[in-house]
Amino acid sequence: MKQSVKLIAGNWKMHGLSADLAQAAALREALEGQDARCRVALCPPATLLDRMNAVLTGGGVELGGQDCHEKPAGAFTGSVSAEMLADAGATLVILGHSERRAAFNESDADVAAKVEAAVAAGLEPIVCVGETLVQREAGEAVAVVSAQVEKSLPDSLAERPFAVAYEPVWAIGTGLTPTLEQIAEVHAAIRTALVRRLGQAATWTPILYGGSVKPENAAEILATAEVGGALVGGASLKAEDFLKIISAA
Ligand code: PGA
Repeated sequence: MKQSVKLIAGNWKMHGLSADLAQAAALREALEGQDARCRVALCPPATLLDRMNAVLTGGGVELGGQDCHEKPAGAFTGSVSAEMLADAGATLVILGHSERRAAFNESDADVAAKVEAAVAAGLEPIVCVGETLVQREAGEAVAVVSAQVEKSLPDSLAERPFAVAYEPVWAIGTGLTPTLEQIAEVHAAIRTALVRRLGQAATWTPILYGGSVKPENAAEILATAEVGGALVGGASLKAEDFLKIISAA
């Protein structure tokens, strides 16, 4: 299974009301008729999935969720299952984002269970890993990220389509980014950990970079060795900015 096409995914986080569906429509329209040089996805809040699916269906933009519960259904007030995301039209799901690892205490084992659920529902997981500033300053970035890859990816991912996103916690929403050398170093370490964990098929798993990706820095980041795409937060909310990042791929 060879996956060398870059994936540019927009993570809207807890942003987006009905009026913002116009941004998804503008994105679809702008990409229509263009040669798809990369895959493009939008991951809106769960409340918008169904309506965004109606906007995007038949166009070139894929739809993703931002999290899922590890169980398909049950008495889990407030949670959304992978099956529900798929039912609403999602084909991808972001899992293990650092905001969920930090604010909702998600462990690597929790993330692995969610990845299992996503795979069972036929979704393509985008599994996030990344070090904190304290860990980077202690020289632990590669070790931390490699361990997260090792423990957050269940066996069921072998031979399945999925992506990993390297998102240094200190680069998310801060305007700070690692140097290109630092990105290349961690992405190479992730590749090694991926192949060790899941075998040769993981040679083609896209490794996205995320954290303050903007129109101004997208081209150089996306041209860095082993960068297989981008996970974009703030700059994915407006179609105009997101399109500039997509055209840099
Ligand atoms: P940012 O967020 O692009 O706003 O830094 C990225 C992310 O958290 O996925």
